[in-house]
Amino acid sequence: MFATAPLTSESKPALYAELLAQARALFEGERDAGANSANLAALLYHSLPDLNWAGFYWMKGAGLVLGSFQGLPACVRIAMGKGVCGTAARERRTIVVPDVDAFPGHIACDSASRSEVVVPLVHAGKVIGVMDIDSPSLNRFDEEDARGLEAVARAFLESTDLGG
Ligand code: SME
Repeated sequence: MFATAPLTSESKPALYAELLAQARALFEGERDAGANSANLAALLYHSLPDLNWAGFYWMKGAGLVLGSFQGLPACVRIAMGKGVCGTAARERRTIVVPDVDAFPGHIACDSASRSEVVVPLVHAGKVIGVMDIDSPSLNRFDEEDARGLEAVARAFLESTDLGG
């Protein structure tokens, strides 16, 4: 049905421009949050090299609850302010973790994860969830990855009905 082509660009800005175009194509004509987040998790996991987990946690009550993802089964609930995900949600900023062992309070769901990036999802002035991406390699993510993933997250937020 969807022919998601492998990303071919060499440079990160070009790679993220390609990824953004593929994400927009996936969301076209569909505004369901469950469908779009599931497809985005699959796109991220299969398009970006060197990942072992990609997915979402959603704010429910006082904490984050696991949503759609690709990778091994993961921790279901993360309290606000806990781990990388809860910290990104509380501080409302993207957090790049070059070495998960050096991040105080990191929550190890998959012991293969060595580095991680978490992008908060803000809708109508509130953090509604986070997009979390893990790699088995140290230092996998930098500021270019952070900006590229933020752009993809914005496209998701703009293309999806999120209530509020
Ligand atoms: N490492 C995350 C937990 C989620 S898993 O990586 C999928 C954290 O510290 O919040």
